[in-house]
Amino acid sequence: MTHWSDMNLWTMDDIPWHQFDPSRVDPDLVKLVKAASLVENNANIYADYMGNVFHQYPDLQNLTRVWAGEEVRHGETLARWATLADPDFNFEEAVKQFRNNFQVPIEQSSSVRGSLSGELLARCVVETGTSSHYTAIRHTTQEPVLKEICHRLASDELRHYRTFYETSKTFLATDKISLAGRIKVVAGRVLELGDEEMAHAYYAANDEKGPFDHKRNSQAYARRVYAIYQPHVVERIVAMLFKIVGLKPHGWICRFIGRRAHSFMQGRARRLARAGV
Ligand SMILES: [Fe+2]
Ligand SMILES: [Fe+2]
Repeated sequence: MTHWSDMNLWTMDDIPWHQFDPSRVDPDLVKLVKAASLVENNANIYADYMGNVFHQYPDLQNLTRVWAGEEVRHGETLARWATLADPDFNFEEAVKQFRNNFQVPIEQSSSVRGSLSGELLARCVVETGTSSHYTAIRHTTQEPVLKEICHRLASDELRHYRTFYETSKTFLATDKISLAGRIKVVAGRVLELGDEEMAHAYYAANDEKGPFDHKRNSQAYARRVYAIYQPHVVERIVAMLFKIVGLKPHGWICRFIGRRAHSFMQGRARRLARAGV
């Protein structure tokens, strides 16, 4: 079982808050940061779910508790930056609204991914997504404090990815999944990345236009998030997903798929922006 032995702990006090520069704040990034703060804050609920699913593996349950603590700290750090950028942002209220509207399925005692190995592979997909998300924000923002926060968060998320990936190998040795099964788990989780949870987080954090509208909020989120991904970040996502599926991430294939995916994302962001989303 993997442990967090290489943990690089940091605290809120390590962030150079005094360097915050309001003139370099991008309002679209503030919206993304607010939404991310709410999703990170849900990690304890996911740890409860993981605790149920992995009830026979106390080491893994402990691991997910430590993991959740780190994710919650990510949420608090992002929320503190968002409050500097927008003093009207009320994190506690937004958390309350988010939780009222969106419930994480924690009751299950078996994995919604069909197997324990599948559950760990799905977690790797999420960590790939978060690591890339903060890398993209770090390369996009001109605001020095957000740059520093995203640098720390992206490396934490990469460590989470590596830990869950290593742990998945142990489980896959006995709880095998075919290539088709792995593709199904990974593709299913990738499709969910733009799902209910993000639309609800975006709504609770940013939308003041009235009742929740899934289409409006998921489009508003997509238009901002797709716009910030650089080609090399998308290529790295593809390489990491190849590894999770169990395929060798050959450079030229990842570059080819990464460039196609990047063009698609840029095109979608532009179309949504033109539509006034
Ligand atoms: Fe996180
Ligand atoms: Fe993470």
